[in-house]
Amino acid sequence: MALVSMTGMLRDANAGGYAVGQFNLNNLEFTQAFLTTAQEEASPIILGVSEAYIPYMGGLPFITGMVNSLIEHYNITVPVALHLDHGSSYDVCIRALKAGFTSVMIDASHHSLEENIEITKRVTDVAHVLGASVEAELGRIGGREDDLEVLEAEASYAETEDCVLMVRETGIDCIAPALGSVHGPYRGQPKLGLDRMKEIRERTGLPLVLHGGSGLPDDEIRQAIAAGTAKINVNTDNQIAFTKAVGEYLAANPETYDPRHYLNPAREAIKAAARDKMRLFGSAGIARK
Ligand code: 13P
Repeated sequence: MALVSMTGMLRDANAGGYAVGQFNLNNLEFTQAFLTTAQEEASPIILGVSEAYIPYMGGLPFITGMVNSLIEHYNITVPVALHLDHGSSYDVCIRALKAGFTSVMIDASHHSLEENIEITKRVTDVAHVLGASVEAELGRIGGREDDLEVLEAEASYAETEDCVLMVRETGIDCIAPALGSVHGPYRGQPKLGLDRMKEIRERTGLPLVLHGGSGLPDDEIRQAIAAGTAKINVNTDNQIAFTKAVGEYLAANPETYDPRHYLNPAREAIKAAARDKMRLFGSAGIARK
């Protein structure tokens, strides 16, 4: 199946009371693990690529080529979107769209609201001509994701009125309001701003995106979905599963030198982690209907 945008996926998720996972690609094994698990679980899936991982994985055209080749190789029939995560500029979003990404996040949350809206609108105008979807961020999500770090003091909650204005002025397809979730491991007990989440959902009518899906208690996830979250981003939990499996294998087999010996169990570990998330988010089984 050809790559699709997130628009229909997220509309269906809100209507069906579940969320679709965005799983961030780190290398070939992550990509194989996510696609095959989505197919086994009959789950729609969003493959996320952060800016830092574009050069690491060999550039945008290579990433699109790898994803499309694997979809064909594994005969993947569930809906798959290829999404730029936290695109920091108009330029990188356009480059991703030109390379065949079907969705982009323009994260201009480090600019003023006016500038954030202006850049987001320019990206949205181009993306929609190409049939791609757009996500924008309001407020600032704290923590570290790959090379992007937002210190605790810089993190801020999204304001409902700002979200309403952003949606009205830009025509984006989904919105990521910063409401207490963080990228990377949580320090202390996470507490999401669920009331504001509901309010933003009601006032904008758009599917909401929850970043920092790793390490959140299951109950907070379920409540976020009930409050209108249709997309949940996960990276750290999969990275931890991968690295732990490699470490355990190498500790038990110090003489090994064939990468397949430790990458096979690492890929299985990501599959198990992704499977758990698809079941928790309620997207498992949806693509069978
Ligand atoms: P985690 O790494 O905390 O799961 O967050 C991922 C994310 O939000 C990607 O945008």
